[in-house]
Amino acid sequence: MNLIFDTHAHYDDEAFDGDREEILSGLREHGIGTVVNIGASLSSCGTTLALAKRYPFLYAAVGIHPNETGELTEKDMDWLKQIAGEEKVVAIGEIGLDYHWDEPEREIQKKWFVRQLEIAGETGLPVVIHSREAAKDTLDIMKAEQSRISGGVIHCFSYGVEMAREYLDMGYYLGIGGVLTFQNAKKLKEVAEYAPLSRLVLETDSPYLSPVPERGKRNSSLKLPYVVKALAEIKDVSEEEVIRQTAENAVRLYRLEGKESGWQNPGLPRILPVGAGFELCRKTGSREDYGEKTGKSKTDH
Ligand code: NI
Repeated sequence: MNLIFDTHAHYDDEAFDGDREEILSGLREHGIGTVVNIGASLSSCGTTLALAKRYPFLYAAVGIHPNETGELTEKDMDWLKQIAGEEKVVAIGEIGLDYHWDEPEREIQKKWFVRQLEIAGETGLPVVIHSREAAKDTLDIMKAEQSRISGGVIHCFSYGVEMAREYLDMGYYLGIGGVLTFQNAKKLKEVAEYAPLSRLVLETDSPYLSPVPERGKRNSSLKLPYVVKALAEIKDVSEEEVIRQTAENAVRLYRLEGKESGWQNPGLPRILPVGAGFELCRKTGSREDYGEKTGKSKTDH
């Protein structure tokens, strides 16, 4: 049986404080094979790493989300580069530009975006790009830095076919999630139709962006079958084929070939013993909703 690969989730989020272990340990029996948990702030990079060490099927991306870059220092970059060398870290991200909130100011976002792309270059890791209402600047920077970056994914792709073509031409994957099931997602449906299935990967952005018919609720990898179904219809292939091909793409994207035994070997325990203490750092601020890209939540990723 082919298992679904969730390329972008935030299981360290406080939304999972009540049942994190229950959800994660039950994923496999519900057809979810692999998850990459994505860091978005200094503290969430730490908690992401802790999760990756605990669950064999869960990998980590480390990076600072554009809206979290206001207080960054070079020392933080040293730390980021250091943890990027940990065994289960498979990417630098999520990094990028977010002009929806324009905070911190654009020049600061750009500075740390470029700086983190440099770290990706130095470590040889692929990148997970967050770009929202910043199409031109993101593309300009990605093009300028292209020679040092070795691939990656444009997560929660929200631009049109023209922009999709640019990124596909540069070798990137496009991340497709719950938005595909929204009635008003005309642009994303066009992109999904245009892009070859071999260049699309599935993602949840859990706890955000839950697909229809669960829109507005907390998202988790368990809801990916709704996205699979929508994508299968658009591509006119079977759901099995969508699952198989997107998982294969994700393994290529995150370079997990040969590293797959962690989740393929049924003899391995699904949960490892808690090591030096698994503690989740509290993020500041509260969230009233699971912020869709137009929502009120300031910290959605
Ligand atoms: Ni995210």
